[in-house]
Amino acid sequence: MSTKGTYYITTPIYYPSSNLHIGHTYCTVMADAMARFKRLSGYDVRFLTGTDEHGQKIQTLAEAKGVSPQAYVDEVVDGIKKLWATMEISYDDFIRTTEPRHVERVQKIFMKMYENGDIYKGEYEGLYCTPCESFWTESQLVNGCCPDCGRPVTPAKEEAYFFRLSKYADKLLELFDKNPDFLQPESRRNEMISFIKQGLDDLCISRSTFDWGIPVPIDEKHVIYVWLDALTNYITALGYPDEPELYEKYWPADVHLVGKEIVRFHSIIWPAMLMSAGLPLPKKVLGHGWLLLGGEKVSKSKAAKGADVVDPVVLIERYGVDALKYFLLREYTFGQDGVFTNEVMLKRMNYDLANDLGNLVSRTVSMIEKYNGGVVPEAKTNDEIDDDLKAIAVGAAAKVEEQMDKFAFNMALEEIWIVVRRANKYIDEKAPWVLAKDPEKKPELDTVLKNLAETIRIISILIYPFMHTTSKEIRKQMGLWYSDVVWEDAFEFEMMYGEQVKKGPAIFPRLDIEKELEELAEIGKKAAGGAASGEPESIPLELKPEIEYDDFDKIDFRVGIIEKAEKHPKADKLLVFQVKMGTERRQVISGVAEDFSPEEMVGKKVIVVANLKPRQLRGMESKGMLLFADNGKRCEIVTTTAPDGEVVS
Ligand code: MSP
Repeated sequence: MSTKGTYYITTPIYYPSSNLHIGHTYCTVMADAMARFKRLSGYDVRFLTGTDEHGQKIQTLAEAKGVSPQAYVDEVVDGIKKLWATMEISYDDFIRTTEPRHVERVQKIFMKMYENGDIYKGEYEGLYCTPCESFWTESQLVNGCCPDCGRPVTPAKEEAYFFRLSKYADKLLELFDKNPDFLQPESRRNEMISFIKQGLDDLCISRSTFDWGIPVPIDEKHVIYVWLDALTNYITALGYPDEPELYEKYWPADVHLVGKEIVRFHSIIWPAMLMSAGLPLPKKVLGHGWLLLGGEKVSKSKAAKGADVVDPVVLIERYGVDALKYFLLREYTFGQDGVFTNEVMLKRMNYDLANDLGNLVSRTVSMIEKYNGGVVPEAKTNDEIDDDLKAIAVGAAAKVEEQMDKFAFNMALEEIWIVVRRANKYIDEKAPWVLAKDPEKKPELDTVLKNLAETIRIISILIYPFMHTTSKEIRKQMGLWYSDVVWEDAFEFEMMYGEQVKKGPAIFPRLDIEKELEELAEIGKKAAGGAASGEPESIPLELKPEIEYDDFDKIDFRVGIIEKAEKHPKADKLLVFQVKMGTERRQVISGVAEDFSPEEMVGKKVIVVANLKPRQLRGMESKGMLLFADNGKRCEIVTTTAPDGEVVS
C-alpha cells in the first residue's frame, strides 16, 4: 500500500507516422525507470504514454500507401504497443488521440476555452513546416528553415481559430518566476522566459486544409490543430471532464517528460491552455536531450541511412531488453544531447554488464557452491575491509534516491556500480580461493561468501527500477526467489542466511565487439537498402537510348498557367486545357482525366513542351504537351512557381 502519495508521470504521445526508433525508446525507458522507482519507494504511481494520431502528415502518408488514415495508424500503433510489451514498459494507460474518449473530451475542453472567450476566428498567415506541423515567424527560422527540424518552410494562409495565448504572457512569466523548478534543465527555463518576453502571438488551433483531425465543435469545416488535440491527452486520459475520478486523484501531473524540441509546447502553450480552462498546472516539465547520430538528431529519416542500427526491436533481439535499457540510462546525461553509436553501446554492455555485474554474480554463486555446498553461510569474522564493503553497500540506496530526485539516471546507476566494483575488488582483496586452501580460515571464508551474497542482494534491489528482469534472475540464482523486492531492504545488510544458491546462465554473456559491429553494419546496410558507408546505392535505370545535347536543345520548355480545364466531349480519358504562357494562350490536351478532375488543375503552373508539332485528338487540336510524373499507376503533375511564359532549361 502506498504511503507517500500519488505520482503521475507522462511521456510525449508519439506520432505513429512510422515505427519508433532508439530516441523514442530512450524517453520511454527513462519514464518507465522513474515509474518503477517511485512505485518501489512507496508512491501510488500513474504512468501514461500513447500516440498522437491526427494531422496532415499522417493523412498524406496514408494516402500514399493507399489506406485510410485510421488503418494506417492502427498498424503502426500495434507495432508500438508490441515494442513496449517486449520491453515490459509498465504504463498504466496508453492513450490514442483517435479514441472516442479522447475526441469527445477534447471537444469539451475546446468549448470550455471558447466559452471563456479565449478562442476566436481569424486568418492565419505564416511560414509552415509540414513535417513538424508548425507555423513559424520569420525571426524564429534558423537559416531560413524550421528551427526544430531544419527543413524548408513554405508561406501559408488560411482561415483558422485562434487561442488567445498572448493574454497569458504575464501569468506565464509569473509561473516561471514563482516556480523555479517548473521547467528543467535551467537553460531551457531561461530560453522560455526570453521567448515569452519577446511577446507571444495568439496560437492557431484549427485547420481547414485537411480533415484528419477532431472536428471543431462549433465549425464542422475545421479540425482541431494538433497541439490542442495532443497536449490535452494528459487530462483526457484521466477522464477529464466527464469521468473525473482519476483526474481528481492524479492531476496535476508530477512530471511531463519530453524531448527538448517540445519543451516550448509543454511549458508555455500547455499551461496557458490549462489557465484558460481554469485547471491546475503540471508540477514539472523536464526536457531531455537528443540522441545524435553522426552529429544530427536520430530521426526516422536519418535512421534509415546509417550503418548504426537504431531499431530497438533489432537491438533487443540481439542483446536483450535489460542491456538496452541499462545502456540508455547509464550512457547519457539527462538534459544533454549524447552521441549514439553501436560501438558505444556494445562497450557499455560488455564492460559494465558482462564484466562487472555478470562476473560478480557468477563468481559469487560458483564460490558458494564450491566452498559451502551452495548454501549462504553466516558471517563469523569482521575486519576493516568487510566494514568498508558493508558501508558502501548499505549507503547506496540513499545516494540512488538523491540522484533519482534529479532525474540523473546515469549517476544513480553509477552509485550502484560503485557497489558492484567494490564487491569485485573485495573478492580480489580477500582471495577466497586462498582462504579455501586452509581449513582454519573457513570462518573467514564464510564471512566473505556471506558478505558477497548480501551485497548482491542489495544490488538486486537497487537495479530493480532499471532492469527488473535481471534483478529477478539474480535473486533466483541467489536463492531469493521467495521474497519480494522491497526498497527498504537495500538499507539493511544482515538479511540472508541459509539460502540455497543455484548457478544459472550468464546474466549478460560477453560480446565479441568486432564481430557484433560487423553484423550490425550489415543489418544497418540492409535496412537502409544501401551501402554500409552511408552512401546510397545507385542502380542504373532502364532508359531510352542516349540523345545528343543538340537533340535536347531542340525542345522548348515553357512555364504555363492552366486557366481553364474541361473534359474532352468525345474521349473519357482526355482533359482539354487552356494554357497561358506569357502573352500567348493555347489549347493543350492530356490523357489524364482518370487521375485529375478538371477543377483541381485550374490555376496550376505547369511545364509545357511548347514547340511540339500540333496534332488533332478526337477532333480537337492539341498544341504542346504538359509534363507529368507517371509510375504507371499514379500520375502527378509537374509544377513550378516560376512566372508563366518563362523558358525552362
Ligand atoms: N506527437 C508529438 C508529441 C506530443 S506530446 C503532447 C511528438 N511526437 S514524436 O513522435 O515526434 O516524439 C517526440 C519525442 O520522442 C521527443 O520529444 C523525445 O522524447 C523522443 N525523441 C524522438 N527523437 C529523439 C532523439 N533523437 N533523441 C531523444 N529523444 C527523441 O513530438
